[in-house]
Amino acid sequence: AGHYDVCIAGAGLSGAVLAERYASQLGHKVLVVEKRAHIGGNCFDYIDKDTGVRVSQYGAHLFHTYFDDVWDYVQKFGPWTPYEHKVRGIVNGKDVPIPVNIETVNILFDLNIQSQEEMDEWLKKEQIPNDNPQNSEEVALSRVGKRLYELIFKPYTFKQWNKYPVELGPEVLQRIPVRNNWDERYFSDPHQALPTNGYTSLFENMFKSQHITVLTNTDYFQIRDKVSCGKHYFSGPIDAYFAEQKLPKLEYRSLEFERKVEENTQFFQQAFVVNHPQDNDDYTRIVEYKHLYNQSHLPHTVYFIERSKDGGEPYYPVPNKRNKDLFKQYQNLAKKEEKTKNVSFVGRLANYKYFNMDQAINNALELFTKDTGIAYTMSSLPV
Ligand code: FDA
Repeated sequence: AGHYDVCIAGAGLSGAVLAERYASQLGHKVLVVEKRAHIGGNCFDYIDKDTGVRVSQYGAHLFHTYFDDVWDYVQKFGPWTPYEHKVRGIVNGKDVPIPVNIETVNILFDLNIQSQEEMDEWLKKEQIPNDNPQNSEEVALSRVGKRLYELIFKPYTFKQWNKYPVELGPEVLQRIPVRNNWDERYFSDPHQALPTNGYTSLFENMFKSQHITVLTNTDYFQIRDKVSCGKHYFSGPIDAYFAEQKLPKLEYRSLEFERKVEENTQFFQQAFVVNHPQDNDDYTRIVEYKHLYNQSHLPHTVYFIERSKDGGEPYYPVPNKRNKDLFKQYQNLAKKEEKTKNVSFVGRLANYKYFNMDQAINNALELFTKDTGIAYTMSSLPV
């Protein structure tokens, strides 16, 4: 009960940024309600009980950004440790860098490419040009050609989506970088780091203000009629918000994490993330968090075998025509609701779009500016 200036559904990044901004910039009284038992949304991490290793509950989270103001912003909530993410893949039994670079191609095809020019030439011979790709197969063929496509992208996509690239819109494989050099980094953003004390600690600091009340284990739909709020933000699934409208549900792809402990073992595998793109096993990747945060001295290790599935937690929107059209219908409902009920929709679930963490932060900062007229000012911290 009581009155709040702002009520926010969801204690993930989108909700945390808005809560923090309203509290720190305007001194507003903010209520955050979170359905789950913890804050942090999908960025939530914790200490594994048997091994003492810090692990993420909803999959690996690497922070990377081109936005200087987002980088500036996140540093207000705790120290960051530079970390450049590198991924390995097991392809035809060989251990190769992912994304594909010169080394990947040399190992897989027994070549001896020595320069960017040679790599460009090789790629050019492989690529099947296409100015206007209509699906992800055409995108992949135009970027890497048939051999790499068959070896890596086609089976991996099928494992992830239970659909072949030809059945998926071009945007799915457009995100995958291919390197004409030796760069092994997974991301090329200028800012790449991990929160030194973990993501959950970062969220605790974002919610620290006395003006902010956070209720976990609380469903927004259960309390929204019981509290009075000047303004609402909803960062949950848009189809859940409009459940009474009886439109079909938006489809999501989800993940399942099988936890395994190896006692008295420094490392189970050679890298933090090892991809298994081919169809000789049923998992997409294995994640061993001990490679992060200087934890190599711990006696045991824990790793998670990752499989894709339908149902369960909503992770990846499925970008096909049915869902895009359906989302437009939800968007129209949202527009009306924004005008009549003083509620704004924010975040990856309300926008039915995959956002990286920095995009989620940037969107929430921009929404705050739009709704209050207060622009973000960079601090004088060293960036
Ligand atoms: P998020 O889902 O985090 O938060 C929404 C919150 O709302 C949830 O906590 C939910 O429980 C709550 N909620 C929903 N309905 C509710 C209701 N009715 N009442 C109350 N609460 C409700 N990004 C990146 O930059 N680098 C990376 O490496 C990764 N890795 C990654 C791996 C995987 C597997 C996924 C799925 C995603 C990533 N991401 C990522 C993306 C990152 O997780 C994403 O940007 C943020 O979680 C977005 O934050 P939001 O607050 O928008 O949603």
